[in-house]
Amino acid sequence: MNCKPALRPATRMKSVGLSEIVRISEKTNRLRAEGRDLITLSTGEPDFPTPGHVLEAANIAMRQGQTRYTPTAGTQELRQSICAAARRDLNINYAPSQVVVGTGAKQILFNLFMASLDPGDEVIIPAPYWTTYPDIVSVCGGTPVIVRTSTGSGMKITPDQLTAAITPRTRWLLVNSPANPTGALYSASELTALANVLRHHPHVGIVSDEIYQHIAFASFSSFGVVAPDLADRMVIVSGVSKAYAMTGWRIGWAIGPQNFINSLVAIQGQSTSGACSIAQAAAIAALEGPQDLLEERKQAFLVRRDLVVKELNAVQGLSCTVPDGAFYVFPSCHEAIGQRAANGTVMETEVDFCNYLLESEGVAVVPGRAFGTPGHVRVSFAYARQTLVEALGRIRRACEMLE
Ligand SMILES: Cc1ncc(COP(=O)(O)O)c(C=O)c1O
Repeated sequence: MNCKPALRPATRMKSVGLSEIVRISEKTNRLRAEGRDLITLSTGEPDFPTPGHVLEAANIAMRQGQTRYTPTAGTQELRQSICAAARRDLNINYAPSQVVVGTGAKQILFNLFMASLDPGDEVIIPAPYWTTYPDIVSVCGGTPVIVRTSTGSGMKITPDQLTAAITPRTRWLLVNSPANPTGALYSASELTALANVLRHHPHVGIVSDEIYQHIAFASFSSFGVVAPDLADRMVIVSGVSKAYAMTGWRIGWAIGPQNFINSLVAIQGQSTSGACSIAQAAAIAALEGPQDLLEERKQAFLVRRDLVVKELNAVQGLSCTVPDGAFYVFPSCHEAIGQRAANGTVMETEVDFCNYLLESEGVAVVPGRAFGTPGHVRVSFAYARQTLVEALGRIRRACEMLE
């Protein structure tokens, strides 16, 4: 009998690759184990600690016995806090029954596409995009429709591009503002212009990933604010990971029409069930506790942003625009492509350039192809100033050695 291997992967696994970021961190771990002195500017998490009052709330929750299963949709208290925060920060009103809490915004996005996509359904994703988006859409049976943006439009999708990308199979427009990896921030008028297009296409929903909402260096706006008339086909995704430095607590959420939210709850009920009870208590403390730390941390990110943009733009071969949010810069390295390192290696692509930075100077950054935009690299500035200064010096040295 000609049997297939027992542990063969399902066909859908063809659309799931090992993330470029994981690949880099494996390589840096290997080099570090060999004793190399490395600086990683490749991860997407704040270097700040989780605030003390949040830790304290988790401690109390644990001791008070909040250690049992929680409702699949999240605790009523956290869903209330999320609604209160949406009211406070954006002046938009949702009921707790319109909120589902999951194990990070990533799981929420997975549930959302799992619950809504049939084979061949299309999701419009502006590139550069967060590396996970197309993979999640594909694994959920959908077809990512990548729309390349330009520096001319601030790396944001334009209304004309959106119009051209919509087909009868389009199910969602996925917008991330402020964006990973570019820091692009859609203004209220830019969102309004996109909403105007969508008003002509009632079969298209909006997924608005607002996880970097509190790290915006100019005025933050939301589809929820500019297009309340589209609320019946809009889902806002967010979480505590980035703003409150709580990446490891794994709490994210979606807010949207109740029936649709119920389908996300149904999917979650068959996978992880309710998110961690202690982490949910911690998230309440983050949302309801003092908010001034958000401004303080944003200012710290701003200072680092200015440092990194200035230094990178002074490096021969690199040029970068100024991000308006999040904690990444996404410089072009087109001028370095084609150049040769001292050992004779030619920089054919930005991947070679990243390997060169890592091997010659021990600095890890992420190649743009991970974000659908070759010819660029992503540099995170969620690191202490002295780490950034040292890393930028090394990048400059590596670039000066190219010829
Ligand atoms: C744009 C974007 N959305 C969502 C997430 C996921 O966040 P979480 O930690 O809540 O899963 C990330 C994390 O890097 C992100 O960059």
